Amino acid sequence: MPTCQLLARQDADYRGWWWVAPPRDPWLEAGEGTAISADLALRAAWRAVGRPAHSPFDAPSVSDHGAPGGAVLFWPKSHALGEWWLLWLCAILPEGTPLQLVGENQGGIKRVLKVLAALGLGSRKLDSARRCSLFETRLGRTAIDPDAAWTTFAAELGEERIALASHPGVFGHGKLDDGTRLLLETLPDALPAGERLGDVLGDVLDMGCGDGILAAWLARRGARVTAVDVNAFAVEATRRTLAANGLAGEAVESDVYSALAGRTFDAIVSNPPFHQERAIDYGPAARLILDAPAHLKPGGQLLLVANAFLPYPDRLERAFGGFELLADDRRFRVYRAVKR
Ligand SMILES: C[S@@+](CC[C@H](N)C(=O)[O-])C[C@H]1O[C@@H](n2cnc3c(N)ncnc32)[C@H](O)[C@@H]1O
Repeated sequence: MPTCQLLARQDADYRGWWWVAPPRDPWLEAGEGTAISADLALRAAWRAVGRPAHSPFDAPSVSDHGAPGGAVLFWPKSHALGEWWLLWLCAILPEGTPLQLVGENQGGIKRVLKVLAALGLGSRKLDSARRCSLFETRLGRTAIDPDAAWTTFAAELGEERIALASHPGVFGHGKLDDGTRLLLETLPDALPAGERLGDVLGDVLDMGCGDGILAAWLARRGARVTAVDVNAFAVEATRRTLAANGLAGEAVESDVYSALAGRTFDAIVSNPPFHQERAIDYGPAARLILDAPAHLKPGGQLLLVANAFLPYPDRLERAFGGFELLADDRRFRVYRAVKR
């Protein structure tokens, strides 16, 4: 990654530092220090090569393990999420800890100067190359609690309102996705007349739960919901969404089915992550479809919404031997495939 190439040419001794919200990168993964990331797949990759990696919800406590020599924050695409990481680092690491911030110029890394100034933290530019910039500062105490980034808004579906908890970086931050809306409008009609959704659906998996909208909608109709997401903030958002609506359900971090070995469901419901990877077969959405039959009970169904242009029909055909198109509004399609 260009950001890592910039870091690799610094004389800084990064031993024992925290790499915060890092990208996947061979130089980083072969080096020193600890990853702090909300992304379970990234943490699994670090751990697979014997490197320490933690989510911000289980970061090593400084009082038990000592403070890191410094931290490098990879400024994320979402500025609100970058600001959250910064406030969180200020809250949990000792004042004066060196912090470097790196990012691509076109991703707006230069805006961090204003953010740092607003927090009363000085900064200096260390280097720039490969269309990336690297700044440094020292952490200080701020009056803002990072938890203030949690917000709640109400999604409206006809007469129904669902309170949704959200956090920067969680899909659906502050709005209901059009694909998700189409899926929820389609699901009741997809059922046999007179059936209660909860009775039909039984044990339901919400794959890629984001802020938990599908999980809450399903739990409200009596489904026993397990919601998974690769992003730790999304899992926490879903827990908060269920609680805010007085609903029960389990929310777990999982890279597609990685935390669900041996578990089967009556239905898997998803607005899957959309990745434009070159090896699209190995993208999360393809894994979701191809491995779905192994996680469905006989007669169980996969219900998906996706952009109309995505090549899911092929994958559904391959995994299930057939599928139905339940809705198509030109932008999005809702598919159903049943395990025979
Ligand atoms: C299109 S969003 C849908 C969110 C929510 N279900 C909704 O309908 O608004 C897709 C979600 O999949 C999650 N995701 C991405 N890759 C994943 C993976 N490998 N395993 C599980 N979830 C993943 C993303 O974090 C994101 O929350």
